[in-house]
Amino acid sequence: MTTLQTLNNLQTPPDLTSKEFANNKHEYFKWMRQEAPVAHCKYVPGKAYVVSRYEDCVALLKDPRVVRDNRTIDLDSPFLPSFIPLPKSTDLILHSMIGSDDPDHRRLRSLVHQAFTRKSMAELAGRIDTLTNNLLDKAEATSKADGSVDLKEVYALPIPVTVIQEMVGVPDEDMPKFYKGIEAIINGFAGVRMMLTMLWDVPRLSDFIRELIERKRENPGNDMLTGLIQAEEEGQKLSEDEIVSMVFLIITAGYQTTVHLITNGVLTLLRHPDQLAKLRANPDLIESAVEEILRFDSPVYTTEPAYVGEDMVLHGVSIARGSIVTACIGAANHDPDVFENPEVFDIERSPNKHLGFGSGIHACLGAPLARMEAKIALSNLLKRNPNLRLAVDPSEIEVETTPGIHSYESLPIVLG
Ligand code: HEM
Repeated sequence: MTTLQTLNNLQTPPDLTSKEFANNKHEYFKWMRQEAPVAHCKYVPGKAYVVSRYEDCVALLKDPRVVRDNRTIDLDSPFLPSFIPLPKSTDLILHSMIGSDDPDHRRLRSLVHQAFTRKSMAELAGRIDTLTNNLLDKAEATSKADGSVDLKEVYALPIPVTVIQEMVGVPDEDMPKFYKGIEAIINGFAGVRMMLTMLWDVPRLSDFIRELIERKRENPGNDMLTGLIQAEEEGQKLSEDEIVSMVFLIITAGYQTTVHLITNGVLTLLRHPDQLAKLRANPDLIESAVEEILRFDSPVYTTEPAYVGEDMVLHGVSIARGSIVTACIGAANHDPDVFENPEVFDIERSPNKHLGFGSGIHACLGAPLARMEAKIALSNLLKRNPNLRLAVDPSEIEVETTPGIHSYESLPIVLG
């Protein structure tokens, strides 16, 4: 059988920015793992070498020849022509911790990781429990005559927004301004809006964060931002620019990902009624169910683009210095060499060493928080809605095309 027949005539190598790819990810993932373990694909910006086998992804994310910061290897940014002068705030967003290399990365990560300790998580858990119940009250009260709501809009979206508000310590009265800024940077880094976002929205949000830092210096709070400011003051280890950059990163890394984990989780469970019934019968399975959702329907399917610091050869493919590479963790999570029956959704899967949170030094810092948010959000939703069901035919649920992210446009469901 030829490769094209295997793929039902889909185009290879895939264009990771296309709707066709978004709609047929798992067929492409299989083709990549089997036929092109280092595939040269259209991506953002331009083209990228994409590795897709589990062991190759883990190795790439640890490879010292691969760097995140183009400046580490004296390379111009491929995202923007060097003749365009960027506002400082936009430069900070492009060069945050996720785009940095050691030793800078180690220093930044060691300062911020305290915000994600077990104790900080336990403090947030109670508040997320109350928040999710309040959102469900509201959703029930505002559902349409047939009991349907867009679960993404009314439930999955507000949860991480509120958590980020708490972490950054944004007062309620400033939330409209902060939320506008968040939306602009989340939705504005693609297509025609990109320039406007970089030249207008990002500087506005940056000004707001700097103002907030000023206020917190005078009136410290019990939040992550205050913690970062104090780390700076005690040891002069974190500059104000780095704090602003970290807040941008928490927003870009922690908002949509959590929305998609909750949305993908609900959809996957509804599409697998036997597993949903098993979870309802034994709610203690929620933790392993969340792990299986992260593996089976990974919200992040490629890691941040990185640069090859020297010419190298992988699986016989020559990759020139300066090329962009990425690990397709979504494909790795279905690698049959690592996962038995990878296409089976099994909430009791064990072991389950999925790469949904990445691997290596940039592995997700917010993983404990994300796990907790998903666990509480899914548990409360299921507990309060024994007859939860999709409001439309499953074929009507649209997949979004954002490169690197696996998500759905909306999730119409009937509460009850
Ligand atoms: C809910 C689902 C989430 C998923 C699936 C997810 C996934 C990931 C992945 C795959 C990476 C590694 C990316 C790479 O190597 O380029 C990562 C990094 C990161 N994530 Fe998450 N994430 C989630 C939630 C969060 C949350 C809630 C936060 C914080 C509020 C967060 C903060 C971060 C940060 C700061 C990094 C960069 C770490 C570093 O560079 O050292 N993430 N995440």
